[in-house]
Amino acid sequence: MSKLKLKATAFCVFAAFTVSFSSPPSAFAHKGAMGIVKERMDKFEASEKATKRIKQALSRGDTAVVIAETEFLVSWAREMEGFFPENSNQPPSEAKDDIWRQWDKFVGAIQSFDNAAQALIDDARGEDPRAIGQAFKEMTKSCKSCHRQFRED
Ligand code: HEC
Repeated sequence: MSKLKLKATAFCVFAAFTVSFSSPPSAFAHKGAMGIVKERMDKFEASEKATKRIKQALSRGDTAVVIAETEFLVSWAREMEGFFPENSNQPPSEAKDDIWRQWDKFVGAIQSFDNAAQALIDDARGEDPRAIGQAFKEMTKSCKSCHRQFRED
C-alpha cells in the first residue's frame, strides 16, 4: 500500500469513528446501513413522511395530495418483496428472521398493505371524508401489523 493510501485509510477510520460517536443513535443506524438494507430503510423513511403528508392533507381535505402520496405507497408495496433478498438482515437491519422463515406470511402482510393503500386511493376519489378517514386508519394499521410480526422493536 502506498503511503498516501495508508494515510487516506487512516483518515477514513478516524472519520468513521468520529461520526459514529457524535451522531444520535438513529442517524448512526442509518449511516451504518449499506446496500439493500439502506435502500429499504430509505423507502420506509419515505413511507413515514408520505403517511405524515397524507394525514395533514386529510385534515385540510386535499384529496389530490392524499392520492399522490398513497400512489407512492402502492408502488413501494409492489416492489417491497424484491428489497428483502435472503440473508439481508445484517446489522443495523431491524428485519426479523421470521420474514424468511414465514415468507408467505410476509408476502401476505405486503398484500394487505397494498390492498389497504389501494382502498385509500379509491375512497379518496369518492370524496366521502368519513370513508377516507377510515381507509387511512386501516392503511396505517397494516404498517403496524407488519412491524409487530416482522420488525425488531
Ligand atoms: C410487509 C411489512 C411491512 C409493511 C407493510 C410496512 N413496514 Fe415498515 N418496516 C418493515 C420492516 C421489516 C422494517 C425493518 C427494515 C430493516 O431494518 O431492514 C421496517 C422499517 C420501517 C421504518 C424504519 C426505517 C429505518 O430507517 O430504520 C419505518 C419508519 C417504517 N418501517 C415505516 C412504515 C410505514 C409508515 C408503513 C406503512 C405506510 C410501513 N412501514 C409498512 C416492514 C413493513
